[in-house]
Amino acid sequence: MPTLNWIGKDAVVNHHHQVPFHLLKDVPELSCSNPGSGNLIVQGDNLVALKALLPHYAGQVKCIYIDPPYNTGNENWVYNDNVNSPLIREWLGKVVGKEGETLDRHDRWLCMMYPRLALLRQFLRDDGVIFISIDDNEIQALRYVMDEIFGLDNFVTTIIWQKVYAPKNSAKHFSEDHDFIVVYAKNAEIWRPQLIPRGSKQDNAYKNLDNDSRGLWRADGMSARNPYSEGLYSITTPSGRVIPGPPKGRYWVYSEAKYKEMDSDKRIWWGKKGNNAPAVKRFLTEVKQGVVPQTLWPYDEVGHTQEGKKELVSIIDFSDSESVFITPKPMRLIERILQVSTSSGDLVLDSFAGSGTTRHATLKLNQDSPRSEHRRFILVEMEPRIAKDITAERVRRPAEGYKNAKGEKIDGLGGGFRFQSILRGTFHGEL
Ligand SMILES: C[S@@+](CC[C@H](N)C(=O)[O-])C[C@H]1O[C@@H](n2cnc3c(N)ncnc32)[C@H](O)[C@@H]1O
Repeated sequence: MPTLNWIGKDAVVNHHHQVPFHLLKDVPELSCSNPGSGNLIVQGDNLVALKALLPHYAGQVKCIYIDPPYNTGNENWVYNDNVNSPLIREWLGKVVGKEGETLDRHDRWLCMMYPRLALLRQFLRDDGVIFISIDDNEIQALRYVMDEIFGLDNFVTTIIWQKVYAPKNSAKHFSEDHDFIVVYAKNAEIWRPQLIPRGSKQDNAYKNLDNDSRGLWRADGMSARNPYSEGLYSITTPSGRVIPGPPKGRYWVYSEAKYKEMDSDKRIWWGKKGNNAPAVKRFLTEVKQGVVPQTLWPYDEVGHTQEGKKELVSIIDFSDSESVFITPKPMRLIERILQVSTSSGDLVLDSFAGSGTTRHATLKLNQDSPRSEHRRFILVEMEPRIAKDITAERVRRPAEGYKNAKGEKIDGLGGGFRFQSILRGTFHGEL
């Protein structure tokens, strides 16, 4: 298997074993009512925080979602996307040594990510899965290190999320429409995605053109490219037209005997005049109660970046536009991830929490289940100011209820959390 090498790798591949265990201390004034609900926000570098959480949660997490710095080189944001923040630089200096000072940005990113990914894997249940948001800056490197840590066979897929709805005319080369979400299972033989609940978009494709008593149906072509030894025969339509066989290069998907049986059960559609090529009637009552997840996630289904920002500013009162957290993910995107990967009662972990969208999305999904079966969450955010003013607030307000930016009262969805920070941490900021 090809592996990736970079300056500093030797110092970090086993580093997660050497990180000392730290204790976490409660910060009651930042916790939210009912802090015993099993939900947790930890302020601190996720390497130390994860190590502190590991004895309690190893092998228990069903879904990890992370949205790490993409390493775009942009340092002027509310959070630093260049893996160049003083906290990470200090950490690199300690772990990688003198070499750490001259690492290029890709080396730095890899040094930062490797031990954290290695730790995250230990949190997953055997039927657990990790979703990682990333873009072209580091997708290649991420795939190599994930293959190394999780194993090539546990790669599941790369989802394309269409994050914008309009081209950026100022783009130097291409206007970028998408991010990637890389998916690895703890064990791809065990993990299976759940079906996505059917929406009106899917159901609208079902009609009942012949008033069939079995209800709504959709016509599916009766030929496919897969070679099928019994799939070549001629067919006569009800109008008497002879179709000599399936289209060139294709095969009927049923044997002649099976097709005739289906036709006499009125499961073949020939068009209103009985002259079309045969199509198979798929009844809505007979299809799966959900849709198999696909790898292309368009913004009209899962939201776009502007939607994510709008959601955030409707909850948090930012003093000026400069301090608005720039890259919150839309809630619908995380909801889709959680629909595919979690059920009631499951534990969700996000160790690059930012504005806490992951928690807000679990809150929304939990609305449909009794409190005792709620999905629980653990969020970790390094920057003290973000953790206190944005992550915790974003989670607290929807839980307790709040007035949105338009002054409308939004009812609380319930659910508290405990806020903790690292006790005797070596490089976390002071709250
Ligand atoms: C891209 S943002 C996450 C955005 C988030 N998904 C949302 O919807 O708001 C990445 C976040 O990870 C945090 N972060 C970066 N390095 C970290 C580390 N080592 N430990 C914990 N958090 C970290 C940053 O401060 C930032 O808030």
